[in-house]
Amino acid sequence: MEIRACLKDLIPYTPGVLKEGAIKLASNENPLGVSPKAQQKITECAGNASLYPDGGCVALRKALASKLSLTPENIIVGNGSDEVLIFVAGTLIEPGDNAITSESTFSEYAYATHLYGGIMKYAPMKNGCFQLDEILNRIDINTKIIFLCNPNNPTGTYFNNDTFVKFMNKVPSGVCVVMDEAYIEYATNKDFPPSIELIEKFKNLIVLRTYSKLYGLAGMRVGYGIANNEFIYNLNKARSPFNVNILAQEAATAALSDNDFVNRSLTMNEAGKKYLYNCFDSMGLKYYKTEANFIFVYINQDCKVAFEKLMELGITIRPLKSFGFNDAIRITIGTQEQNEFFINCLKNILV
Ligand SMILES: Cc1ncc(COP(=O)(O)O)c(C=O)c1O
Repeated sequence: MEIRACLKDLIPYTPGVLKEGAIKLASNENPLGVSPKAQQKITECAGNASLYPDGGCVALRKALASKLSLTPENIIVGNGSDEVLIFVAGTLIEPGDNAITSESTFSEYAYATHLYGGIMKYAPMKNGCFQLDEILNRIDINTKIIFLCNPNNPTGTYFNNDTFVKFMNKVPSGVCVVMDEAYIEYATNKDFPPSIELIEKFKNLIVLRTYSKLYGLAGMRVGYGIANNEFIYNLNKARSPFNVNILAQEAATAALSDNDFVNRSLTMNEAGKKYLYNCFDSMGLKYYKTEANFIFVYINQDCKVAFEKLMELGITIRPLKSFGFNDAIRITIGTQEQNEFFINCLKNILV
């Protein structure tokens, strides 16, 4: 058996090392756990697991459309937004085509591109920020997709509406722009792009969001894409019939109205952010101001060594070597107790 050429150099995903009992601030999950409304719904609906799920995620798409002032035809739901990335690449990339993103961003853009035989081109990043002009400079006749991450994982930085609209006006209409907004609910700056308002003007734009962060449903695997009807119709051709399971659909629909959980999560994130900024300042550590639920911080020592030491002390964080930073880590903003524990451990290993 000969596997496809584009898969030969791909390395299967290796999940992060987890230490039993350790506090996990490594994957930007919600430290408050699951939305209680979603949890209750999962319990209530467990008995329906013998049935196939709704293959069109009709109720969930309706609830999302109503919340976002869209129509259900503007929305496609995936088994996590990771899967929506694969729908986009599977719909647009032929072997030899290329996609463009920035260096030091989410790795799944490259994975989805390579899966279909595409080539990933990288624009440089400056001060932890996407350089949209550098991306424009790299577009050629074989470019099919541009992947943007706003706020960016792992730096937490963002680009504003003005920059984004100027960029969109220069991108050829045949090049799809994926605007990955996995962390948008945490963003507080007023000039953040209201990207879903632009999907009719720019029919090549798709906005991705997820239930894995603010709504505390990473283990349920629900994410969605928002674009004009025709693009969504075509993306559905790359989607398997029952891709989102029955409990995930129920949980996601319930979580959408869990305002109390959402508000508590956002308040805790803001407080944690301030606490960690203060601690980093007093420790003399440089970091990027974040628009998300994690912070990128330079620790002035090998991040893989720091990762091992912190894990020994009972906490897991994300070392950023694979993103191109030898001496930086990404820490999920946790509960106050978890943040204090992290800071104590960090002080301990930095002496
Ligand atoms: C920027 C970004 N996009 C997408 C995802 C994937 O989210 P999901 O759990 O919906 O697949 C993540 C997960 O960490 C992420 O950081």
